[in-house]
Amino acid sequence: MIELSQVSKRFGDETAVDAINLKVAKGKFCALVGTSGCGKSTTLRMINRLIERSSGDIILDGQALEAYDPVKLRRRIGYVIQSTGLFPHWTVARNIGLVPRLLKWPADDIQTRVEELMALLGLPIEEFAHKYPHQLSGGQAQRVGVARALAADPDILLMDEPFGALDPITRIKLQDELASLQGRLHKTVVFVTHDMDEALKLADHLVVMRDGLIVQQGTPLALLQHPKDPFVESLLGGLERGLKQAALTRVKDHMSSLGPTLPSQYRISADFSLRQALSMMLRDHTDRLAVVDQHDVPIGELSLRKIVKEAQLEKGSMREA
Ligand SMILES: Nc1ncnc2c1ncn2[C@@H]1O[C@H](COP(=O)(O)OP(=O)(O)OP(=O)(O)O)[C@@H](O)[C@H]1O
Ligand SMILES: [Mg+2]
Repeated sequence: MIELSQVSKRFGDETAVDAINLKVAKGKFCALVGTSGCGKSTTLRMINRLIERSSGDIILDGQALEAYDPVKLRRRIGYVIQSTGLFPHWTVARNIGLVPRLLKWPADDIQTRVEELMALLGLPIEEFAHKYPHQLSGGQAQRVGVARALAADPDILLMDEPFGALDPITRIKLQDELASLQGRLHKTVVFVTHDMDEALKLADHLVVMRDGLIVQQGTPLALLQHPKDPFVESLLGGLERGLKQAALTRVKDHMSSLGPTLPSQYRISADFSLRQALSMMLRDHTDRLAVVDQHDVPIGELSLRKIVKEAQLEKGSMREA
């Protein structure tokens, strides 16, 4: 869906993006991470032509970027930024309907679409449709920003630190909403973030940038298991990498069948992450947890010894391979 070949951007003498190659398949979620000033936003803005690249090729949906009219192109690509970029003198409903209006949709269709999106993003119409951006909390404004980006049903969504200014609880909630939205809508997403947990949680494809270069890219798990150099390793969490990897697997993938001496007072849901399970073990001073289904019925158990043993076996088989 998106393909960058040897793409560079120079600002005067400075090379902000240096001959990067990047492919994002249709329906995939790509996260760009890296220290400040490494070229993430510039990369994003070259894709929707808010910035013209200095050299290299960009292909979108099988066609060279130049084959698209720049204005039409931007209307086909949803773009969300940290400051939301909402128009302050427009109501929420009008802000969300911006692109459909530019595309001259019939008024009834715009109205229907705005209502659909507000429902999708958890913004009750009676409460929010007529509010102005200054009357919204940061999280609500971000939701309006995401709704607006989705309004004309773009195939591609570019998101530049969309949740950067939010408190951790609202942030996690919006991440979960974005993940579930993505599960239903299958947009092709390029997402910039400074929050590694956010990147690991959402991305199918993780891209680490440094000084305008792509240092390493691959699945989150591959990068966690084999960081290429100390920079990638420290960016991915250094010593915390083990826990970040545990956050990517579910309890149900590590549980064994119910033993006779079930530690029933310590329970964890099968859908929780292994990281949450390890945290619970530390908190509750136990090395075994009962695993329960959504009705709180025990269906297995999780043992710290077994988790460690599996990790050792995995490491051994990787070494042999
Ligand atoms: N319009 C511009 N003119 C000159 N230099 C620019 C311009 N935009 C970006 N740069 C430079 O290009 C480099 C990359 O900037 P970019 O905004 O892409 O970084 P970033 O990875 O998004 O950083 P951050 O995480 O801080 O947002 C920086 O050194 C920046 O100073
Ligand atoms: Mg940036």
